[in-house]
Amino acid sequence: MSKHIAVLPGDGIGPEIMEQAVKVLNALGQDFEMEWADVGGVAYANHGHPLPQSTLDLAMQSDAVLFGAVGDFRYDTLERALRPEQAILGLRKHMGLFANLRPAKCFKELTGASTLRPEVVSGLDLLIVRELTGDIYFGTPRGRRTAVDGNFPGAPEAFDTMRYSVPEVERIARVAFEAARKRNKKVTSVDKANVLETSQLWRDTVTEVARDYPDVTLEHMYIDNAAMQLVRAPKALDVVLTGNIFGDILSDEASMLTGSIGMLASASLNDKKQGLFEPSHGSAPDIAGKNIANPIATILSAAMMLRYSLDMNDEADRIEDAVARVLEQGLRTGDIMSEGCQRVSCSEMGDAVRAALR
Ligand code: IPM
Ligand code: MG
Repeated sequence: MSKHIAVLPGDGIGPEIMEQAVKVLNALGQDFEMEWADVGGVAYANHGHPLPQSTLDLAMQSDAVLFGAVGDFRYDTLERALRPEQAILGLRKHMGLFANLRPAKCFKELTGASTLRPEVVSGLDLLIVRELTGDIYFGTPRGRRTAVDGNFPGAPEAFDTMRYSVPEVERIARVAFEAARKRNKKVTSVDKANVLETSQLWRDTVTEVARDYPDVTLEHMYIDNAAMQLVRAPKALDVVLTGNIFGDILSDEASMLTGSIGMLASASLNDKKQGLFEPSHGSAPDIAGKNIANPIATILSAAMMLRYSLDMNDEADRIEDAVARVLEQGLRTGDIMSEGCQRVSCSEMGDAVRAALR
């Protein structure tokens, strides 16, 4: 049966990077049924909502969603519910995509592209497992009101709620421990248990789940220390398990270890193996339409889609090998450019990866 993929390019550089990923997928010689739909600012412009019902229905019915990026400064002044970012948050929530996997791998050719010293990042290969449907991102109540207490009673204030339940922490912890079993059998759980109640519950729950995985080493780390260790000695980390907001921040930080955020793919999975696959970077409106964006994160996200949602491991390997080969050939988009390499455009990078498929 052909696999049904919802293709949602979104805003900014979304369409141009998506075109490259689709190009590579189409060259695999497999039977994919791809259906395209608007999402983000472009969906707001065309349908009055960043996540139109038709796009959501398409995503829910697909085997997997390939997502570009959303965000457009033209819509930043809209009420929050209509801003482009709500599209990705809505998809995560409606599809129940609680497990976000963000691998940060430093290709050997790119050790010089990182702002960190080559010996700190060479050979780096870590996996951030970020909880994606809870925490302060989705916690209620939230809103604005007049303060009745706090430092300035009577002043206008805003508030959000950080929340985690035990089953929410358990299921994401299991994803991390299972992943660790296939890697170096070490999980670093990141929280702020010295200050936050949610983090203490997180830590207690992860410790409980760890009993089922005696072969995996568990360590706990505070978020501030983790942010430091990630740039001090990132290779000491393997699987990093954390909540939604800490994971958001740490994954951007981790991307810099790989040379560029343009290299970082991600998978967001639910309990039915259905997934949404997107580059970890944003819509970069400043370089949109110039054909200079790095499509590799999107191409590698397509590879993750094949691996995690479509049971096509061999094809996923083929794409990942092709990306490695293109880097070996010395082809670079601007963000990862270094001396002696050949600078290519977004579409040329897509063509090169397609040509390098074996
Ligand atoms: C990410 C992004 C999103 C997030 C935004 C666009 C809502 O930063 O995927 O990391 O905060 O999760
Ligand atoms: Mg982010």
